[in-house]
Amino acid sequence: MAPVDSKALIAKAEAIAREFEYTAEDVRKGVKEFLREMDLGLQNDGQPMTMIPTYVTSVPNGTEKGVYLAVDLGGTNFRVCSVSLKGNSTFTLTQAKAAIPKEMMTSDSHTLFSFLAQQVKAFVEEHHADHFEEFPDHHLQLGFTFSFPVDQRAVNKGYLIRWTKGFDIKDAIGKDVCELLQKEIDALGLPVTVAALVNDTVGTLMARSYTSPGKTGTLLGAIFGTGTNGAYVEKLSKITKMTKPGANIGEYDKSTGEMVVNTEWGSFDNELRVLPNTPYDQELDKMSVNPGIQMFEKRISGMFLGEILRNSLLALKDSAGLFAKADIAADAFLHTPWSVDTSALSFIEADNSEDLARTKQVLEAQLHVPAADISIEEARAVKILAHAIGRRSARLSAVPIAAIIIATGKVQPPPQPRPVAAKTDEELEVIDIGVDGSVVEHYPGFEKLLREALREVEELGEKNEKRIRMGVAKDGSGVGAALIAQVAAKMKGIENK
Ligand code: GLC
Repeated sequence: MAPVDSKALIAKAEAIAREFEYTAEDVRKGVKEFLREMDLGLQNDGQPMTMIPTYVTSVPNGTEKGVYLAVDLGGTNFRVCSVSLKGNSTFTLTQAKAAIPKEMMTSDSHTLFSFLAQQVKAFVEEHHADHFEEFPDHHLQLGFTFSFPVDQRAVNKGYLIRWTKGFDIKDAIGKDVCELLQKEIDALGLPVTVAALVNDTVGTLMARSYTSPGKTGTLLGAIFGTGTNGAYVEKLSKITKMTKPGANIGEYDKSTGEMVVNTEWGSFDNELRVLPNTPYDQELDKMSVNPGIQMFEKRISGMFLGEILRNSLLALKDSAGLFAKADIAADAFLHTPWSVDTSALSFIEADNSEDLARTKQVLEAQLHVPAADISIEEARAVKILAHAIGRRSARLSAVPIAAIIIATGKVQPPPQPRPVAAKTDEELEVIDIGVDGSVVEHYPGFEKLLREALREVEELGEKNEKRIRMGVAKDGSGVGAALIAQVAAKMKGIENK
């Protein structure tokens, strides 16, 4: 192997990093296109950015009470929890987690859903045996957080449109996932009713609203985790696909004039009108189970960033001799799709040491290149790439947030019934956003980078960016699902014990 020219290596890494630049102009173009696709999705069924009406017509105010079950299927784990809502913006939560066996993600619906029902059984037997002795006829109400696009037709009914995030179970497409779960729960004889179907973004929005109720409520719940997506509060009058003649729409409470919409922004710009599209993105898409779909998500979220890094490392290896001392085994890892986990980017970003020892360790752990065989320049080159990919992800994430703030009229003070003095900066309302997911939680400086891009959007600027309060809604998928199960049960006149 020829000795590596370390200057050339760094220069090449910097050149690849420039391919990941996402400029202020790009952000602005992205916002414009996002606004266009939001409108398309609100007006028409079957759009890539689906804009799913969720049948949730209000957000909580913190006074909700009761014990509810919640289950969460959305990524690598299945979670069962029971949530006790205390009615004072607080809750307690007990949970159990099970990893979803990888082969189950591409099996058949009976295999997956009976596995889920068995986890529910084990959980209620362990934590709720007393409940059934005390109230033998009382079904526990369960909120089902199912974080995939569904065609929702009622608070507890939704037909699967497509799988995302590596799942691919063909016979489930077009089926009501609440019914699939209820059938398997019934087969085990469990006194549990699937009362609500909830996307994780909706859960995040609800949980954030419950725990930090403000004067204006929470506007948006967003996930930057294995996948990315957001749900926000929209005016019913703007969701015109629900009021079109012949629209196939279930019952819902119209009194609030609002409904939470699950955008499914992971599929924003599947046509790549404005999204960046480097060779590393293209390679990833080719290797994915759903080429051409979830193109926005594939540039942002945890399932994909590690793979983009791997693709760019390969380019650096081929063009500038990265990992010159790597043996055949390490080389094989580097050539194995999905072998780099996104957590690597967070660790590397956090490593500000002189000798980049942590970066080398991570490379050893994930790519099996012995740390001792990695030169400081090689570690630096990797860091340059990892940073560029993380930064692009954060800047892209500003696009939907800015667009939704603009679309919901939050950048101007709401119209007043009679002329009043303009609001001073201090009087302008907070724009509250609940977030969750491994990328926003663990990637160092993600929010800071995202906010930089928000400020570059003309309609927002620094003044409005400062109004945005962003906070992690912990356990959003559990508490949020419980809150929606509570609303759904209440509508049916069922009070939880
Ligand atoms: C994917 C799913 C979406 C979910 C998101 C975050 O984009 O399609 O429903 O909200 O991942 O988990």
